[in-house]
Amino acid sequence: MDKFIINGGKKLHGRVNISGAKNAAVAIIPATILAEGPCILENVPNINDVTIDLQILQEMGADVKLLDKSTIRIDTKHIRDTVVPYEMARRMRASYYFLGTLLTKFNHAKVSMPGGCDLGDRPIDQHLKCFKSLGADYSIEHGLVEINADKLIGTQIYFDKVTVGATINAMFASVKADGLTILENAAKEPHIVDLANFLNSLGADIMGAGTDVIKIRGVRKLGGTNYTIIPDQIEAGTFMVAAAATKGDVTVNGVIPKHLEPITSKLRKVGVTIEEHDDSVRVIGAERYERTNLKTMPHPGFPTDMQPQFAALLTLAKGTSILTEGIFDNRFRYVDELRRMGADISVDGKVAVIEGVERLTGAPVKVADLRAGAALIIAGLSADGITAIEEIQHIERGYEDMDVKLRGLGADIVKRRYPSDIKVAL
Ligand code: EPZ
Repeated sequence: MDKFIINGGKKLHGRVNISGAKNAAVAIIPATILAEGPCILENVPNINDVTIDLQILQEMGADVKLLDKSTIRIDTKHIRDTVVPYEMARRMRASYYFLGTLLTKFNHAKVSMPGGCDLGDRPIDQHLKCFKSLGADYSIEHGLVEINADKLIGTQIYFDKVTVGATINAMFASVKADGLTILENAAKEPHIVDLANFLNSLGADIMGAGTDVIKIRGVRKLGGTNYTIIPDQIEAGTFMVAAAATKGDVTVNGVIPKHLEPITSKLRKVGVTIEEHDDSVRVIGAERYERTNLKTMPHPGFPTDMQPQFAALLTLAKGTSILTEGIFDNRFRYVDELRRMGADISVDGKVAVIEGVERLTGAPVKVADLRAGAALIIAGLSADGITAIEEIQHIERGYEDMDVKLRGLGADIVKRRYPSDIKVAL
């Protein structure tokens, strides 16, 4: 079992390069099923979720070639299978994007109910509502979702709640449907726009991505493309918060500052100095931060995927902060672990009340999910002493070379492999 061992208290300094966006890549890779020519994807993050996505495509008959560390050539013309391998699909929530792409390509798809991070109830009713509205039938049996359609016909769809995944699956299922589809109350995240740009580069006709009304006019054919994936705004935000938490001075490179606006404005509000440049931001920490209140919202609100990381920062702020999780039912599974390090946090439902303390101390902690792991790393970097972080496979699902990048900024962090029966005595 691998662990991160962090000796905290070191100020981060220097430059870090941000990888491609996980949540764009895990949508664009299944989208290559819709391409009738080869796709060359650049700035693909080297993370486990991408590896699973590529393995699923290969299992189904696609030709996948790694041209370099972050460039991949995918040719899906030989895919005939419309059933996604159950064991692989279960390991990643985003496997449900194969539903929309296979439905459009073959009028049939069979994929396991999604797995992934346990953030509370994560239904797929809005996805199924979209497929049905476009003319498909579905069934859920033995843990598998199966959808069929004789013909997909454009229609008007209003989302009962803003959902990234269902917005993406609706784009997949309508991109070659007959006529016009209008999505209302659509998600507006940067990766929604990136996917629309990718599909349009194949020859799709999608307007309005990034607003809450997206119009998709069905086309007959989608070709191949060369496409560069946007930088990961959540990875960037994670390093920005880590720089602030260690009172460091870090330039986060290869970003789109506009995508970071909700994070930048919140960091400035608590007292972090941030300089914005064309494709980088410089983060200069302070001795102590002000308290704040924060509620996570769909983009352009403060992103839920930055909630645990920001909570780790607020554990050392002056005063009482109130943090409300506006998207998921249970995104505070990291709180008990932060308490082991001396944080003073109480949680009631979707609200966490954080009393700032003077210092955190290192401790053995366990990762519950991807962003909880990022929060524990940030806490370990700012704590006095040693923090041993278990279950880091959750972190490696969504962050490329996290320990390598942090060491490049002066952090004392190493990855250690332990036989699973040996507990680390600190
Ligand atoms: C995507 O998850 C991201 N994952 C999540 O990132 C991110 O937290 C989330 O969007 C919100 O931004 C990927 O892109 C792979 P949703 P998704 O559908 O699509 C409810 C990370 O850390 N809902 O926008 O599953 C749902 O329960 C991960 O990178 C329904 O009720 O999220 C949630 O409360 C974690 N019915 C809310 O909507 C549905 O049919 C938002 O979910 C679908 C969703």
